[in-house]
Amino acid sequence: MAGFLDEIEPLKQTALAELKAAADLAALEQTKGAWIGPHGKFTALMKQLGTLSKEERPAAGKLINAAKVELESALTSHREELELKAALPKEPTDFTLPGRRRALGKLHPLTQVTEDIVRAFRKIGFAVADGPEIEDEYHCFDALNTPADHPARDMQDTFYLANPSPGSATLSPSDGERDGVRGSDGGKTLLLRTHTSSVQIRVMKSQPPPVRIIVPGRVYRRDNADATHNPTFHQIEGLYVDKGVTVGDLKGTVEFVFREIMGSDVKIRFRPHYFSYTEPSYEIDFTNALVKKMGKDWLEIAGCGMVHPQVFENVGYDPEIWTGWAFGFGIERIAMLRYGINDIRLFYENDVRFLKQF
Ligand code: DAH
Repeated sequence: MAGFLDEIEPLKQTALAELKAAADLAALEQTKGAWIGPHGKFTALMKQLGTLSKEERPAAGKLINAAKVELESALTSHREELELKAALPKEPTDFTLPGRRRALGKLHPLTQVTEDIVRAFRKIGFAVADGPEIEDEYHCFDALNTPADHPARDMQDTFYLANPSPGSATLSPSDGERDGVRGSDGGKTLLLRTHTSSVQIRVMKSQPPPVRIIVPGRVYRRDNADATHNPTFHQIEGLYVDKGVTVGDLKGTVEFVFREIMGSDVKIRFRPHYFSYTEPSYEIDFTNALVKKMGKDWLEIAGCGMVHPQVFENVGYDPEIWTGWAFGFGIERIAMLRYGINDIRLFYENDVRFLKQF
């Protein structure tokens, strides 16, 4: 008996020393097995308890259990230590290094160009207005003096919507003869606006003159997508109404804005044109070093003119008192020119490799 009891303490000490010496978790598990696993040396000692006499067993059992508790707590605490060590970075940490920055997003190139144009107009006192993309024929065409048989209103050129209100003439693709129906409902037929010019009407109807607004916005046309066309694109409309407004004001304003956004080498020229809502009407051609680089002398960039007296009548402004000009141009065109982009579809694919460049 004395021999058995004497064995416990030294065995425990050796086991403790080996457990504490385990350099990593794998070594620790191995040492655990060697001592307190089913075939461990300490386990073997416990099995010997059975060979002791009844009188000897309680004291020996007590001692052995205490030793086992001690071994298990040493095992647990060393395991925690090793786990912590394993979780630490392998390399020492340099806390003086700069932090990792989160990559910042950017505005879409079309948004950037739009904001630049808006900023240029704000400098000369224009306010931003907007209107619905789902428009009716009245605001998109009728009030802008665009007759029912104008090709811009053709079913093939515009996206018409089924009218939601019961009782009104509902257009469906099966309505073969459009011209008879169009306009007969007082212009209530809904469509996706083909230009931002519709907002001219909405603004003038909602406020008395003078007016000085620009309208950036999305427009829709039944175009097949190719390098220079897309069924959805963006325009900026401008409208200036006051007393004694002239074509000179129009030209000066357009020139100022294009120089602001495209550089001081910009030249513009006005060419006579026809729009039903302006008289006289012009197309604006534009040139600068970029246009020359494309091998062209001039690039057609916008439509404009003096607001037609009939349009003033339609919104309740007296054309004998009020004068004004309007213009509209495509934002994609400006962005393509500015950044040297040769395919309009790139703007809508939202490929990050493309967008990252702006
Ligand atoms: N709405 C025309 C278009 O989409 C552009 C335009 C031309 C707007 C003349 C105007 C204007 O305000 O006066 O092509």
